[in-house]
Amino acid sequence: MSTPLVHLHVEDRIATLTITRPKALNALNTAVINALHKHVVDLDGRDDVRVVLLTGEGEKSFVAGADIAEFATHNQQEGQALAQRGQDLLFTRIANAKKIYIAAINGFALGGGLELALSCHVRVASDNAKMGLPETSLGVIPGYGGTQRLAQCIGKGRAMDMMLSAKMIDAETALAWGLVNAVSTQDELMAEAKSRAKGYLRNSGDAQAAVIRAVNAGLDHKGGYDTEIVEFGKRFTSKEFVEGTEAFLDKRRPSF
Ligand code: CAA
Repeated sequence: MSTPLVHLHVEDRIATLTITRPKALNALNTAVINALHKHVVDLDGRDDVRVVLLTGEGEKSFVAGADIAEFATHNQQEGQALAQRGQDLLFTRIANAKKIYIAAINGFALGGGLELALSCHVRVASDNAKMGLPETSLGVIPGYGGTQRLAQCIGKGRAMDMMLSAKMIDAETALAWGLVNAVSTQDELMAEAKSRAKGYLRNSGDAQAAVIRAVNAGLDHKGGYDTEIVEFGKRFTSKEFVEGTEAFLDKRRPSF
């Protein structure tokens, strides 16, 4: 039996998805994208999972991009279909997931790899990580949402420079630019990601999912302020709102 391309481990309401294609630096071919898609859909439906950590196997690479060998001979229609399919099945789906996704960037996050990390809601990186969108060096452009999400995350000037130069930045620069939320040693990376996940577990998952919807509505030009108003109102029908406010008034910790 062949090894799965993505490994799933669930413990204490935190799922860890590990892309296990280290010989190709965890490059995203169709099979990996399909496997990740299936996990993302399954995890969205699981009540025993609130946060998902996404990482790559090995000490060298998170994900070194879309699989170049797979698309090297594509024509225009195939190229467009590759980007559309990837965005629909994986990147947009993670960005709009019901769970909180934390990318644990354990090495190279290039092209589709950085785009995958950018689809996640939060990013932490190991101090050896290198990040970039080098697509213009191959004569293509980012196709998995990178032109939009990188600029949203670090601003147009820095994003333009990264894409036009095709250069990588190191973890410290990524931290200074707000591309990642924290940097740790490689040994401590998963502990850092888990500690953040545990912090999120203290708060209402319903409210966190609503925050993600409202933020994305704005970024996607789908009425962010109006979405915020509607989502705010909806919280008043939620059991977690009752629990959160009662706990505050009772001077105890809420249980979510
Ligand atoms: N696609 C396919 N295979 C890849 C790959 C990729 N994106 N990145 C690495 N690999 C493979 C290599 O071909 C190599 O395979 P073999 O051992 O069979 O030759 C193996 O992984 C190890 O890679 P290297 O020998 O190149 O390792 P290195 O340490 O010398 O270099 C690296 C590491 C700088 C990350 C280099 O591998 C590299 O530049 N990779 C490509 C990065 C890139 O351009 N990514 C963007 C892809 S395009 C994209 O993602 C489009 C999109 O938005 C949709």
